[in-house]
Amino acid sequence: MAGIASATTAPSLDKAVEELAMNTSSPPEKYILKEGLGGSELPYLDIPVLDLSLLNSSTHETEEELKKLRLGFSSCGYFQAINHGIDTSFLDEVHDVTRKFFKLPMEEKKKYARDVDDIDGYGNDTVYSENQTLDWNDRLWLNVKPEDKRKMKVWPENPTNFRQILLDLTAKLENVNEIVFKAMAKSLGLEEDCFLKQCGENPIVIARFNLYPPCPTPDLVLAAKAHGDPCAMTYLLQDKEVEGLQALKDGKWYKVRIVPDAIVVNVGEQVEIMTNGLFKGPIHRVTTNRERERMTIAVFFTPDPTSEVKPAEGLINEKNPKLYKSIIDYTGNYFQLFQQGKRPIDTLKV
Ligand code: OGA
Ligand code: NI
Repeated sequence: MAGIASATTAPSLDKAVEELAMNTSSPPEKYILKEGLGGSELPYLDIPVLDLSLLNSSTHETEEELKKLRLGFSSCGYFQAINHGIDTSFLDEVHDVTRKFFKLPMEEKKKYARDVDDIDGYGNDTVYSENQTLDWNDRLWLNVKPEDKRKMKVWPENPTNFRQILLDLTAKLENVNEIVFKAMAKSLGLEEDCFLKQCGENPIVIARFNLYPPCPTPDLVLAAKAHGDPCAMTYLLQDKEVEGLQALKDGKWYKVRIVPDAIVVNVGEQVEIMTNGLFKGPIHRVTTNRERERMTIAVFFTPDPTSEVKPAEGLINEKNPKLYKSIIDYTGNYFQLFQQGKRPIDTLKV
């Protein structure tokens, strides 16, 4: 998720979820879901696996991959990317620095703690309202682009290669993002730069490193509450062994499968607006696990907050009227609306 935070109540940064997980057999009340989770074993979501190396040409295979992209994004808002051009050895390094950071002693990690009313840095769920149910999740949230939004004091220097790996990861994902954005446009018969243009001169790039500690009561606590991502596109490196991500499709929850070395790509709400609802920004959540911790890395691409985001002209006609109003800085008030239980994209319906 991405946005500018303005929290109302000071959260207890003195207790990371990791510390709660070590010292308690029952999570504090503010983590317990009021509506319960309804925990039965769920089926897997049918998500297309796309070979990104085939997207950049004009062969028959390219057409097939574009069809898969369109199918994945219009049915559930996801695809899994393979042959994305990022080496397995580099992805292993990303997982490795993530693990090394979260395994540092607590005092060391707290050097990078977010300010109580901020989101950038290491910490637990930011509190926006008093009756908010908290996520069973410690995260390190870092603004990477534009460069003047970097808060270097919360960028880990330990492990020593952390910063370089982060910069390399986001640079590599920028290439992937360009391929995906052009392919999205082509799959809808539009000029290939049309969605990239809406992202403006200075798109925002945010990285979120997630630690989901084991939870003694997985039926009562979520690692991340149901949400849509307010960005344009999300790239997720899942934990290599531990599942947890679930997505909502046609009112039912499904598990998202782990595909080795694939990047999970999901539509953000701003692409739902740009495609006039053809591509769905999926509602998703993360469940907790009694035995095993889970670590993931999510990178969010968000349009420049001065750029106007709107349904592409080429998708609107008599049969397909415009569904969303234009918006600038969609993420600006996302978090407060979200914590009040509103879906911000719904406030833009024509
Ligand atoms: C997110 C998110 C999923 C996961 O960070 O917005 O949905 O599996 N993460 O960590
Ligand atoms: Ni998300």
